[in-house]
Amino acid sequence: MHDGSGRIAVQNLTKQFGAVTAVQNLSFTVEPGSVTGFLGPNGAGKTTTLRMLLGLVRPTAGTATINGRQHHELGNPARIVGSVLDNGSFHPKRSARDHLRVYAAAIGVPDQRADEVLGLVGLSPAADRKAGGFSLGMRQRLALATALLGDPQVLVLDEPANGLDPEGIAWLRTFLRSFAAQGRTVLVSSHLLSEVEQTIDQVVIVSAGMTRYFGPLENLRQSQRSRVLVQPADASALATALREAGITEVEPTPDGRVAVSGATVQQIGDVAAKASIAVYGMEEQKADLEQLFFQLTSGQYSGAPLPGQYAAQGNWAQPGAAQPMQSGPQYQQAPPQPYQQNYQQPGQQPQPNQGWGGQQQ
Ligand SMILES: Nc1ncnc2c1ncn2[C@@H]1O[C@H](COP(=O)(O)OP(=O)(O)OP(=O)(O)O)[C@@H](O)[C@H]1O
Ligand SMILES: [Mg+2]
Repeated sequence: MHDGSGRIAVQNLTKQFGAVTAVQNLSFTVEPGSVTGFLGPNGAGKTTTLRMLLGLVRPTAGTATINGRQHHELGNPARIVGSVLDNGSFHPKRSARDHLRVYAAAIGVPDQRADEVLGLVGLSPAADRKAGGFSLGMRQRLALATALLGDPQVLVLDEPANGLDPEGIAWLRTFLRSFAAQGRTVLVSSHLLSEVEQTIDQVVIVSAGMTRYFGPLENLRQSQRSRVLVQPADASALATALREAGITEVEPTPDGRVAVSGATVQQIGDVAAKASIAVYGMEEQKADLEQLFFQLTSGQYSGAPLPGQYAAQGNWAQPGAAQPMQSGPQYQQAPPQPYQQNYQQPGQQPQPNQGWGGQQQ
């Protein structure tokens, strides 16, 4: 049984490789009983952070702890944390079972655990096959089986979905969720939000080595509200009718339309019909999570502040000692689009009188 103490805490972590700042004053926590996605684009510092957490790279500054201890203080770490940072380090001539037995002996768990973990990752039928002949997805599973040998409290996986087919991804999702449901901790990195969106309940978003957001995925999702752009015969009459119907998030747009949040196309149509206001068109605009993820991370080489990057509330990262990492003209951040300028941050209430079309007051 696991007592739910497998908390990961990263505090002001920094790693400098010569002139390159791979990780910059990074802070976040991962609570037991949850699957946390560690998300960021290529080069954001994910692997470096995980390597520091696992005692493979020494931080330049700050700490990364599991159960309040740094990796080298964990005693027999394989009993506490299992990890997969790459999926290729197998002796090619060794069978999957023998590979696992070698590792089992090294961490002091009985031989039979090899067959148990093969069963857990669905590799029992391939137990006697040589790892050198495994597909990429099979190697991922064998690496995961290796990480599970010590029945750890915490699982740290770097891009585990790489190489998995859709069935493998679905399987991994179920596996990680049930692992977390036992009160254990899962930290899983990815450069694609869509790949892990259905698996994770917490999210840490990093870019240029800095935390952009951490907290429940649901908060991030709720921040991305859709709106309906309505073209009525009489905009102010429609706005009045909507407000009277309790739909209060109604804003004019510069092109003469009315932007409505918090109501469906059908609800708006019903209100307009009841008030005898002709409607010539309605367009639903969905701002998805992927778009927000892109906004939060796309400026990683420019160092320029992103729209809504640092909010005063929730778990949004504080600017702190944030410094631009590198600049290169080829990576300049695109100017934000009007719609992006106005997206709501998690936990933030919509601002009254704030137009959607870039007409901020
Ligand atoms: N050993 C090293 N020596 C020098 N620079 C390094 C080293 N390891 C990482 N870096 C640099 O640190 C930065 C972050 O790299 P890291 O591998 O942590 O990113 P990542 O988020 O895991 O990216 P990816 O999605 O591509 O795996 C990059 O600029 C990388 O080149
Ligand atoms: Mg990486």
